[in-house]
Amino acid sequence: MKKINKVGIIGVGDYVPDKVLTNFDLEKMVDTSDEWITTRTGIKQRRIAANNQPTSVLAINAAKKALKDANVGPEQIELIIVATITPDMHFPSTACIVQSALKANKAVCFDISAACAGFVYAMTVAEQFIRNGTYKNALIIGAEKLSSITDWKDRNTCILFGDGAGACVLAPVKTGGIISSYLETNGNLVDLLYMPGGGSRFPASIKTVNERMHFIKMRGNELFKIAVRCMTDAANKALKKCGLGCADVTYIIPHQANVRILWAVAKKLSMPQEKIFLNIQKFGNMSSASTAVALSEVVRTKKLKKGDILVLDAFGAGLVWGACVIEW
Ligand code: COA
Repeated sequence: MKKINKVGIIGVGDYVPDKVLTNFDLEKMVDTSDEWITTRTGIKQRRIAANNQPTSVLAINAAKKALKDANVGPEQIELIIVATITPDMHFPSTACIVQSALKANKAVCFDISAACAGFVYAMTVAEQFIRNGTYKNALIIGAEKLSSITDWKDRNTCILFGDGAGACVLAPVKTGGIISSYLETNGNLVDLLYMPGGGSRFPASIKTVNERMHFIKMRGNELFKIAVRCMTDAANKALKKCGLGCADVTYIIPHQANVRILWAVAKKLSMPQEKIFLNIQKFGNMSSASTAVALSEVVRTKKLKKGDILVLDAFGAGLVWGACVIEW
């Protein structure tokens, strides 16, 4: 197998459902206010998928745009990875459902469960396959229908999440590409963010439904400081690995959990806030889709120049975190 030197992004796409749920809508559902949500999180609204839109539909819409942007036909794709914590079903993987819809019959397909860092994990895994010559290209997707696991009676969590999907096509490139990545995991803090019901530990039952175990449980306050520390550390370590520093970065494209987390990360990295790309105000926290949609938006709207440096930086349940440095 011929080893590949540089693997880069050759196309991007994103899709969010039409339905907008504003903070004012939430005021009618739980004891909260637009003022509290805006000042504590930066979120103004989020998108909610329709009943007939499972995660795969969001993923397929984003994937089609990424393939078109890359000018690559689905039959040419050799690997599809979907990063999601809200798969259509426990099995088969959502990636298999996406493959069928796209008619990407040659692709090997699987899902990655790495919560909000899922897209960064997927990018890093796909990059290895292309770099070592196993596959010529890969379609990676971050897609979530978090509204399906959100407890709409819990004001601590329901104000945070939204639905959406982002995708990109990776392939060998002549210049630039993914120049370093860094992943880390700490499985000792599972109980800070998890969904207890529906798995093999607590299979679905009347009890799990009555006890609202099929919804996200989060200790947000405790996660906050850890998120700041881990996202700062991941960006620093990934940049150091490729001999760059924060001053070289054009945009940080972070996971969008809370704007206050991102301003704290910016401060620790000594970076101006303008270099931190934000879409949380429009979409809330879409877990793996947050970085995926943000990357697509940056590529579509920011008139990137050759040599610009992007840092994907994410943190989530697991705990899992990581960063990818991409030279444009
Ligand atoms: N509306 C109004 N009040 C609310 C509220 C809401 N939607 N949600 C919580 N509150 C109240 C709490 O009940 C609490 O009231 P009390 O002081 O009377 O007990 C008060 O606001 C403060 O709650 P707290 O949880 O300490 O708020 P916070 O400033 O930590 O903000 C989060 C909460 C969730 C927004 C914030 O902790 C966060 O973003 N955490 C990180 C999330 C994260 O990184 N997740 C992992 C990656 S996905």
